[in-house]
Amino acid sequence: MEKILITGTAGFIGYHTALKFLAEGYEVVGLDNINNYYDVGLKYGRLEASGIHKDSLEDYCLKGYEEGKQKPFDSLPAGRQGAQGDASGNNKLNDGSDNPESCLPAGTAGIRNLKSVICNLHPATLKTLQEHSPFKYGTLYQSATNPRYRFIRLALEDYDCLKELFEKEKFDRVVHLAAQAGVRYSITNPFTYMDCNINGHLNIMEACRHNKVKHLVYASSSSVYGSNTKMPLSTSDNVDHPISLYAATKKANELMSHTYSHLYDLPTTGLRFFTVYGPYGRPDMALFLFTKAMLEDKAIDVYNHGEMWRDFTYMDDIVEGVYKVTFESKALDIQMTDDRLQIGWSDPNRQSTIDNRKSKIKPDPSTSATAPFKVYNIGNSSPVKLLDFIKAIEDKLGKKAKMNMMDMQPGDVPKTWADTTDLEADVGYKPDTSIEEGVGRFIEWYRDYYNK
Ligand SMILES: NC(=O)c1ccc[n+]([C@@H]2O[C@H](COP(=O)([O-])OP(=O)(O)OC[C@H]3O[C@@H](n4cnc5c(N)ncnc54)[C@H](O)[C@@H]3O)[C@@H](O)[C@H]2O)c1
Repeated sequence: MEKILITGTAGFIGYHTALKFLAEGYEVVGLDNINNYYDVGLKYGRLEASGIHKDSLEDYCLKGYEEGKQKPFDSLPAGRQGAQGDASGNNKLNDGSDNPESCLPAGTAGIRNLKSVICNLHPATLKTLQEHSPFKYGTLYQSATNPRYRFIRLALEDYDCLKELFEKEKFDRVVHLAAQAGVRYSITNPFTYMDCNINGHLNIMEACRHNKVKHLVYASSSSVYGSNTKMPLSTSDNVDHPISLYAATKKANELMSHTYSHLYDLPTTGLRFFTVYGPYGRPDMALFLFTKAMLEDKAIDVYNHGEMWRDFTYMDDIVEGVYKVTFESKALDIQMTDDRLQIGWSDPNRQSTIDNRKSKIKPDPSTSATAPFKVYNIGNSSPVKLLDFIKAIEDKLGKKAKMNMMDMQPGDVPKTWADTTDLEADVGYKPDTSIEEGVGRFIEWYRDYYNK
């Protein structure tokens, strides 16, 4: 069976995706830096639920992080230690220095990567990595419940360690889900998005390129549609007007991926997720926030006075789509030409079903005339009005919500609605869980997990 790297496995979608690939018999390595963007307790809970415990058998440490020597982030100058983005958007480093050398304390030169990693990390990310974690950085942990699952705490920004991991593990495919998520947080913490989503994506692509990975599947987002108003939102439409930095980084990931697909014949598929929800869901998203507030008899914030529609997509549907696309994406069908075979790696056995390079027609933005590249929407294709969503929660909880009617938030869009025609045509699949069913399953999980 093939070996898959899945990034972001302490996160919501990554956790469920890892379980799916394991259930299908694959060998999986999960990667996450376990940052504190939201409650790390829930991230540890997800790891725990997949058999990853702090005392699980360690398989190996990456060089420079062995026991005893390993303290990569804890000896920084005082000036950088407390530096962090704040709600006012002030993200300046507070050591007052532009010189990368100056952010290193004396005596750390021998620790591999330290200089490049530290100097490329945003202070908020650094602070997270300095904080105590039961999982040692750069060390592989064996799942106690599944012999085919291992986990490593690693930052995407740490290219040297990523490179070593790829060289040792020789992954067949990569499902890259780790990122700094959240539209609103990107308004106040822009630098984090550049570090995680831009540099992190580049590092993953470089590692894939140099290690003959057969397919890179990565998370994009419905937020790339920004100011588009034509419904349903289609991957065939241009998305050149993002309205949050988060969206801009996701669109940039698609552009960067096209470049690597073209230059190095690395098949890449971007998945634009539409408001994912389900058990172990994110505490910064509406369903979690609303359920928690309502159970505590607190009021909920309802943006744009309830005039919002979201194409909510249940987790099981997302995971099924990610799994199918990993093996059946149109990106895998594009034939290599002799000239491009000489530029970089490619799989000579890959069979062609389309060769749109020969076509005179301008390629659809979701595909390419020159590269094994594809972008899909994964959404339910059935937008739900926010007030109806709240009604589904009320029905399941058996109580009424107290609502604070609020204006539209910067960076937000009033409506999302996925056109999933391509996903259906290419991989024969369409998400279809109803909102009542999905909300019900989330609330059952929430009450059980938090004992409410
Ligand atoms: N949940 C949604 O509705 C939704 C919608 C659109 C797109 N997405 C995208 O899907 C992906 C997964 O989202 P999610 O909802 O599971 O979010 P999540 O925050 O729960 O998971 C992301 C994980 O990535 C990890 N991470 C972040 N930066 C990292 C770094 N620099 N190095 C290593 N690990 C890092 C985090 O610790 C976290 O556990 C993200 O790329 C997100 O942007 C999600």
